[in-house]
Amino acid sequence: LGAFIATAEAQTYPTRNITVIVPFAAGGPTDVISRIVTGHMAQTLGQSIIIENVVGAGGTTATTRAARAANDGYTLITGHMGTHAASVPLYPKLAYHPEKDFEPIALLAGTPILILARKDFPPKDLKEFVTYVKANAEKVNAAHAGVGSVSHVSCELLHSILDIKPVGVPFNGTGPAMNALVAGQVDYMCDQIVNAVPQINAGTIKAYAIATAERNPSLPNVPTTAEAGLPAFQAQAWNAMFAPKGTSPAIVASVNAAAVKALDDETVKKRLLELGSVIPAPKDRTQEALATLVKSEIAKWSPVLKPAN
Ligand code: MLT
Repeated sequence: LGAFIATAEAQTYPTRNITVIVPFAAGGPTDVISRIVTGHMAQTLGQSIIIENVVGAGGTTATTRAARAANDGYTLITGHMGTHAASVPLYPKLAYHPEKDFEPIALLAGTPILILARKDFPPKDLKEFVTYVKANAEKVNAAHAGVGSVSHVSCELLHSILDIKPVGVPFNGTGPAMNALVAGQVDYMCDQIVNAVPQINAGTIKAYAIATAERNPSLPNVPTTAEAGLPAFQAQAWNAMFAPKGTSPAIVASVNAAAVKALDDETVKKRLLELGSVIPAPKDRTQEALATLVKSEIAKWSPVLKPAN
């Protein structure tokens, strides 16, 4: 009987609004990607999708809430490289496990990392930046979206390469962190590209380099870290949708299908590409591919990241 009811539910799903939790503030990369993709998914699923921004603790507050939500398909979460991988080594008392407490739904976007600074930060290019932050490591500060966020983890990687420990300035997301960078209140940030393209193009911040092998078509004038003299710094994050563990396979499959359809939509693709995101190849859009990505990212970050205290 239980299986019969589950099948019947999946056949009618969804019958009401779906909430997608975004673990960071509005206007940041995870929020922007979620809104672009779920806008199209709502048309496919025939119900509204409401984005709920739940901030705090580098995204882990929201992710804990999502792990404990009813597994009925009406509460989903957009997690990322931080919430669903880097948080594991960084938070020894993490109240969820990315693999045990979630059903992977689909990868939504790859997000290259950029080294950005306030527009009047003295260094002109990446070589000068390296010299400057090494010489002024006690004075400079790096904005981020909380311990375990992508911006935090990416700059930790950069700082370990440069062998410096500057002060970090936490925000509830890189949306507000970007506002502080534009206002000149913080010095620099390692942020996902989505957040940065409009500001770089408007000249309100500086971009020293993109930490990927190739330049990004949305920012053709921004050199790669290899071109700019720091090849060791390579970083690309990702954002993906998850459901609480135990959500019925049929519901997860129908949300996956809606996400895949959104990623094939010309308007969605154009918007994601304009913001520099990497659209997952079809083979990377399956639930299995996301499960594999989460496992490999936890394995990759666990030896690199240590708890803050
Ligand atoms: C955000 O949406 O604010 C970001 O994904 C934060 C981050 O992880 O750096």
